[in-house]
Amino acid sequence: MKKVEIVTTVLEYDSLNELSREEQELINASKEAVKNAYAPYSKFQVGSAVLLENGKIITGTNQENAAYPSGLCAERVAIFYANSMFPNVAVKAVAVSAFTNNAFTEKPVPPCGSCRQVISETETRFKSPIKIYLAGKTRIMVIENAKELLPLNFDDGFLG
Ligand code: THU
Repeated sequence: MKKVEIVTTVLEYDSLNELSREEQELINASKEAVKNAYAPYSKFQVGSAVLLENGKIITGTNQENAAYPSGLCAERVAIFYANSMFPNVAVKAVAVSAFTNNAFTEKPVPPCGSCRQVISETETRFKSPIKIYLAGKTRIMVIENAKELLPLNFDDGFLG
């Protein structure tokens, strides 16, 4: 038996001011987007902003449905939309913010497993790391790439 330890590194910032102007702009775009969420069931409004290599910022929000599983998270809405509009442009970064009970969440909200899988596939597709920004009300977590968030990931290499 061999024990394999997988270490994930997360950078934590106490204020938006510690980040660059470009990073602040991306996070603010995700915060701005939450108002467009369609989340009548969970009342948990999520905004995601995707930075593309061409400098464009694309936003998405969670889209719920009375048939609950038919809804989709903000991150996948944003990435799928970005990749539909610009299929040949790499995704460089993704920011996520969440708003509920009339306030942005204190805790940064991490992407669910399915969203991590999609971010991971997008990294593989464009052969370029995607930096992930999880924005709480004041605290911001930064993860260098999707593989940090999804170790032992499944990718096309397993399909043979
Ligand atoms: N949700 C997201 O959009 N992104 C996340 O990172 C976590 C969860 C959505 C799904 C659902 O509409 C609501 O938040 C509650 O789970």
